[in-house]
Amino acid sequence: MEETFAGERDGIIYSRYSNPNTTELITKICAMEGAEAGFATATGMAACYAGIAPFVQQGDHILASRAVFGSTHRILTQIMKTRGITYTYVDPQNIDTWGESVRENTKMIVLETPSNPGLALIDLEKAGRLAEKHKLILHVDNCFATPYLQRPIDYGAHLVSHSGTKWMDGQGRVLGGLIVGKEELIDEVITFCRHTGPAMSPFNAWVISKSLETLAVRMDRHCENALQVAEFLEKQDEVLHVFYPHLPSHPQYDLAKQQMKKGGGIVTFVLKGGAVAAKTFLNRIKMCSLSSNLGDTRTIVTHPSSTTHSKLSESERQSVGIVQGMVRISCGLEHIEDILADLKGAL
Ligand SMILES: Cc1ncc(COP(=O)(O)O)c(C=O)c1O
Repeated sequence: MEETFAGERDGIIYSRYSNPNTTELITKICAMEGAEAGFATATGMAACYAGIAPFVQQGDHILASRAVFGSTHRILTQIMKTRGITYTYVDPQNIDTWGESVRENTKMIVLETPSNPGLALIDLEKAGRLAEKHKLILHVDNCFATPYLQRPIDYGAHLVSHSGTKWMDGQGRVLGGLIVGKEELIDEVITFCRHTGPAMSPFNAWVISKSLETLAVRMDRHCENALQVAEFLEKQDEVLHVFYPHLPSHPQYDLAKQQMKKGGGIVTFVLKGGAVAAKTFLNRIKMCSLSSNLGDTRTIVTHPSSTTHSKLSESERQSVGIVQGMVRISCGLEHIEDILADLKGAL
């Protein structure tokens, strides 16, 4: 014990530090993402925070994509503020202008691609080059794509975070998060997490680790269903816009084809009838589940502006295209005809 505590011998000390189940899971995610090291956290948000907090101090500045998950937005705009850390939001679809917002005190870039829920993409190659040029830490939330569809480290990301709760578990059973990346950075994440305590439970690690054995098979089916749902929605009179990365009408279709193997399991669309139409649509859904989660075997239909992104002000939502008529669909593994029949009925 004395030698293990002194770091002279490898060993498992205590599950807030490490555990055989979490080690197995981390090893798998590192292999999938091409990362040197990692840490497993209790939730995706704990991973996201652990990949920011240790790297910024009072007076530092963060450059972040405007289209980030609601809780990431809270971290950047409120929690960081209490620590004296400032941020600048930049337009995800206009990465060529990001350099203008880099300051002397900028320490890191935080982004999510594709974004939740608008499915805006960020050019990872350009993000990697910008980070390298200004010597910034590039943190990518890869939750929507999973390493099966996209590997940000190949483009120069230093840290990659995940909500294991989503596609990785993929069955709506457990919460979990992963942060992987460069060993020297992960060492700092580990120190931060060991003492602040957001470790993943060994049981959840076992569940998610086992789920990874079917990730590729599940993602293929999620993506196939999502593409068909997107193509169906695009033909409906009630629908104003459909967003799906591998749909030719997506404004960043070429980029999506280049950096994502498939389009992912999420489809977002906007109903012409706005808030009333969205509410009616959700209330008429029969088979799909109504919840704020995503990445489950069951198709999930969500109204982002009143749930996942309700903490943003109306103008903040407008700035990232989260309008009242927007609906997000996390396509499950059901037979496509069953999913389409439910959507048709609700429309
Ligand atoms: C892109 C993204 N990142 C992070 C999270 C947070 O994950 P968790 O709910 O596991 O904390 C979510 C949750 O929906 C998400 O969509």
